[in-house]
Amino acid sequence: MIVKKKTRGFICTTAHPVGCADNVSKQIDYVKSKGPIDGSNKVLVIGASTGYGLASRIVQAFGAGADTLGVFYERQASGKRTGTAGWYNSVAFENEALKAGLYSRSLNGDAFSDEMKEKVIQVIRQDLGKIDMVVYSLASPKRMHPKTGVLSSSVLKPIGGAYSNKTVDFHTGDISEITIEPAVEEEIKDTVTVMGGEDWQLWMKALKEADVLAEGVKTVAYSYIGPELTHAVYRQGTIGRAKDHLEASAGIITDDLKDLSGQAFVSVNKALVTQSSSAIPVVPLYISLLYKIMKEKDIHENCIEQCYRLFDDFMYEETTPVDESGRIRIDDLEMRDDVQETVENLWDQVNSETLSDLSDIEGYRTEFYQLFGFNIDHIDYEQEVEVDLVHERIHTL
Ligand code: NAI
Repeated sequence: MIVKKKTRGFICTTAHPVGCADNVSKQIDYVKSKGPIDGSNKVLVIGASTGYGLASRIVQAFGAGADTLGVFYERQASGKRTGTAGWYNSVAFENEALKAGLYSRSLNGDAFSDEMKEKVIQVIRQDLGKIDMVVYSLASPKRMHPKTGVLSSSVLKPIGGAYSNKTVDFHTGDISEITIEPAVEEEIKDTVTVMGGEDWQLWMKALKEADVLAEGVKTVAYSYIGPELTHAVYRQGTIGRAKDHLEASAGIITDDLKDLSGQAFVSVNKALVTQSSSAIPVVPLYISLLYKIMKEKDIHENCIEQCYRLFDDFMYEETTPVDESGRIRIDDLEMRDDVQETVENLWDQVNSETLSDLSDIEGYRTEFYQLFGFNIDHIDYEQEVEVDLVHERIHTL
């Protein structure tokens, strides 16, 4: 099939298998160029097919030589539909791991379900014995609660009052004023149910009860804080409540892992173009300004650079450096005063006319399409490609 990019709203409904494989191999090359790290030996990554989870898996596998078990929810090709980017990324990852002689297995299905937890435990028992690292990197709009069967949806809304600010349609470059009405109590609760830490706690409890966690096990989940200008829609909004819950869950999990001398961490990461962040109002405009400034200052990072730094500089230190709330801060460069002051200045000046001069909207757009395997210079998108890819190491539940 000749695969062309097709968009609907902020998502791309097609993905290019060759482009996705290229993204994966570039990330692997980056890790190899940086050299080996002291990491874990046997790693479970929940949310392993795109964004921060995929990068974490690549760093563990190709940086630390770890055996990895990845969990994700993706779709393979069927009929005229291509597979999702995460599906192709995972096929590519499995191919590369196989070539490198690394153990890896992938389970495709709903990580929120008991069934997935049971299957993961079964694979760990059978192939790995015990695991010493669990990366929790899910981003999902919905969660079916495993005990009650209730389906909750998350929303991205402010709390307490309406919020108005600039937002960009990154496809057209149009900047407009957006007003988001505040969430009602039910929506706050539902967002915490979907994106909070309950499922992370359930995973760690199930793994511990099954006795598949090694002495000294570590687990990490990802959070975000960001600048004042996005606080109303992010950190002080519904998703922020969920992140508060996720962060509090780290303490609960660490207590529960005491007898194994285990530890749970939250890492606050940098704002990046991923499938999830492009869905948040206001944030893509902030990211385009941020990219411009961070690239000019030569401190720009993507998921792979962030994850390499997380595992190389923080997670395996004798004492992991954390902030006053116990969180790892790899958003340090994003939050630097000089970076944030410049973003604030530009924020006031940016409009549809000045957008391409003041921001890196072009870089945003390119990276967005690259998430789906498009806009990569050396790939010929007129060529027929095989879209129906499967891998013997990927099992769908
Ligand atoms: P992403 O959309 O690239 O990846 C989400 C992953 O979750 C994919 O592997 C997907 O298959 C998996 N997934 C979703 N629902 C699932 C389900 N029901 N069962 C199994 N797997 C499922 O997202 P991204 O941006 O990498 O986010 C990961 C974490 O990092 C989130 O907690 C997010 O809040 C956090 N984060 C993201 C930042 C950003 O700017 N993108 C910044 C800081 C933190």
